[in-house]
Amino acid sequence: MKELREKIQKEGTVLGENVLKVDGFLTHQIDAKLMSQIGQRFAELYKDRGITKIVTIEASGIAPAVFAGLAMDVPVIFARKQKSLTMNQELLTASVYSFTKQVTNDISISTKFLTKNDHVLVIDDFLANGQAALGLIELCQQAGATVEGIGIVIEKSFQNGRQLIVDKGYRVDSLARIASLENNEVHFIIEEED
Ligand code: G4P
Repeated sequence: MKELREKIQKEGTVLGENVLKVDGFLTHQIDAKLMSQIGQRFAELYKDRGITKIVTIEASGIAPAVFAGLAMDVPVIFARKQKSLTMNQELLTASVYSFTKQVTNDISISTKFLTKNDHVLVIDDFLANGQAALGLIELCQQAGATVEGIGIVIEKSFQNGRQLIVDKGYRVDSLARIASLENNEVHFIIEEED
């Protein structure tokens, strides 16, 4: 998605060889207009898949997921990393290990929000090692829901997340794919239809 790539080039900062800081429009301050375009793009990509729910994870997945939910007119569920006081009902849970942060989070969604009749689009802000997306897929599987695909805002294609997810047979759509962050520069993979 051209607008997203331009925004990353203009406002993103490369930290070391592995991390892209995008707190000016995605992970801290949010560019709502860009998020709206992102939501519409996901809606376009998944218009024929009968999506009934969008599933994401707090915190930074919520903004793109909500705009996709608005564009597709479906509810958005975000997995929690910590149990909330009011979460006293039955839960779907999975463990997610973050290689970047070297911590394991138990993520959860209340069983009442996902059923076997649901067709889910999973959305997240970053795809790095794929552990968050795999955890969300697992929650959907526990509910017996069908995962129609994984929509990612920024994929770091030099890490193995996409491969792990594709190897399990799932569709992955990333709106910006980064080949490398070498020399403090962002190098994109640009696909023809993009
Ligand atoms: P994985 O889920 O793909 O395995 O990713 P990983 O463990 O490597 O990343 C853990 C957290 O760091 C995730 O956020 C992920 O979105 C974020 N992240 C990974 N790579 C980058 C990057 O290059 N830049 C930025 N800004 N974030 C990155 P999280 O812990 O769920 O945090 P949050 O959504 O609550 O902010």
